[in-house]
Amino acid sequence: MFTATCIAPVNMALVKYWGKRNEELILPINDSVSMTLDANEMCAKTTISASESFKQNRMWLNGEVVPFEENARLMRCVEGIHRLALANGAHKFPLSWKVHIASYNNFPTAAGLASSAAGYACLVYTLARLYDLPMNEELTTIARQGSGSACRSLYGGFVHWQRGLSADGSDSIAVQLAPAEHWPNMHMLILVVNDARKKTGSTKGMQLGVQTSALIQHRAKEVVPQRVKDLMAAIDARDFESFAEITMKESNQLHAICLDTYPPCVYMNDVSHAIANFVHDYNETVGSVQAAYTFDAGPNACLYVLAENVPRLLAAIQLAFPNDASQSVEYLKGIPVPPVEV
Ligand code: PMV
Repeated sequence: MFTATCIAPVNMALVKYWGKRNEELILPINDSVSMTLDANEMCAKTTISASESFKQNRMWLNGEVVPFEENARLMRCVEGIHRLALANGAHKFPLSWKVHIASYNNFPTAAGLASSAAGYACLVYTLARLYDLPMNEELTTIARQGSGSACRSLYGGFVHWQRGLSADGSDSIAVQLAPAEHWPNMHMLILVVNDARKKTGSTKGMQLGVQTSALIQHRAKEVVPQRVKDLMAAIDARDFESFAEITMKESNQLHAICLDTYPPCVYMNDVSHAIANFVHDYNETVGSVQAAYTFDAGPNACLYVLAENVPRLLAAIQLAFPNDASQSVEYLKGIPVPPVEV
């Protein structure tokens, strides 16, 4: 039997991926940019074993059996790795051996906290370790076919998923813009507003958006390209104010498109909106932009803040949201690492 165990981190989008131009290959209509979190804080951990004696492929997620062979995305990742292993030539055991996969998330699954990103990145990375494949851009094209945003979790730091133009998706890859050390005092706070499963998953929300939103194509063509350029410049210059403005506008536009979808997809709740208002008020009170929010397809808030400003912001959050602040505030060091074998 051969076994590999790896952990992979969550990434949080700054410029959001929303909408596919190819559902099967998971090709996006626009580029996106993200920051990868510290894998010690929020990660997926996956163990994969391959054995001659296994009768079938099997998978457990957080201890529960999940369908394997009927899961097209899972199978595409396994087949993608098999193709690379064949091309690579140097695998220790026959590709016909079945695998058993056990994966755990140390944070709520499917609550808009990028669980599928960490999960599929971890799956692909662990398979690559099992078959002795090197980490490269091709792996990001395989992780992308599990869950789009997963391609960005294969790198630490700041990551750019280029939408690509080809029909086969070979140029829809993730690349690292800067490692975590480039901006070491960038931190993130997660305010867990609700850790229940979301009502409309991102796949369905995006499909409906592409079909019914009048704003979504305008965003993809006219808004995102410039925002990606501006955000890259802000990251490069460690310009927190520009970073914060782009990040908040991006979050707002994602949720505007979700509301423009018919029927609308509502991911943020009253508490989420109160948090967004709080951040704008806070920045006004302190007299400079010291905090930024972003919301994915769920109500939970991610706040970006520089290390030196964390205590003041945390104190203000606890004043503004006193009831459950001690439980709901999760403090992340924000020193991201890429996936590692453990
Ligand atoms: O990769 P998916 O299908 O879970 O979609 C992720 C979509 C957002 O999290 C809302 C945005 C993003 O770029 O991660």
